[in-house]
Amino acid sequence: PYLEYTVFLAAYLSGTIPFAFLIGKYKKIDVRNHGSGNIGATNALRVLGKRAGATVMVCDILKGTLAAYLCSLFFGPWGGLTGGLLAMAGHSWNPFFGFKPSGKGVATGCGALIILMPEVMLISGTVFFVVTMVSRMVSLASILGSATALIMSMVFPEPLPFRLFTLIGASLVFVRHRANIKRIIDGTESRIGCNKEKE
Ligand code: G3P
Repeated sequence: PYLEYTVFLAAYLSGTIPFAFLIGKYKKIDVRNHGSGNIGATNALRVLGKRAGATVMVCDILKGTLAAYLCSLFFGPWGGLTGGLLAMAGHSWNPFFGFKPSGKGVATGCGALIILMPEVMLISGTVFFVVTMVSRMVSLASILGSATALIMSMVFPEPLPFRLFTLIGASLVFVRHRANIKRIIDGTESRIGCNKEKE
C-alpha cells in the first residue's frame, strides 16, 4: 500500500548519481581535484571538455525532471515540490561522498522547474543564458537565474508548493555558491572560455 512512496526514494537516489564524477572517472580525471572541485556540468566543461560538460548538463537536468515528474504523478504539486528538492539535495550533498558538498543543484533544479513551472523556467533560463554570454561566469548566471525563478514564481499565479520550491531551491543554490560569490566580489571568479584547461 505504501509502494508509491518509493518514488521519493527514487527521486533522491536519481539526484545522487554523480555524472560529472563518473565521466571524469572514465577519463581517469577526478573532477573533485580540478577546477572548482565541483561535481557539476560547469566544472565538467572546465576540466573534461565541451562534450563532457554538455553530457553532464543534460543528465543532471534529467535527474530533476524525472524526480519532479514521478513524484507529482503520484502526489500532485506537493509531491513535485518534494521530489524536486530531494533530487537537488541528493545532488548537492551526496551520500556517496560522505554527504560533503558535491554539486550546486542548478541543472537538477532546472530539470524539476521544467516540470513544475515551464513558463518560469523559460524566463529564468533566458536570464541564465544572457548572463553567461555577457559575463562568462556560470556561477553569476546561476545565482541571477535562480533569483529570477524565485521572483517569477511569486509574480505568476503559481500554487504554494511551486513557490516553496523556488524559495527553498534558490536558497540552496545561493548557499552552495558562497565561495563563488566571494570570488565574484574579489574579481577572481573563473570565466568559461578564459582558462587554460580543457574547454
Ligand atoms: O552550477 C554550478 C555553477 O553555477 C558554478 O560552478 O564549478 O564554477 O563553481 P563552478
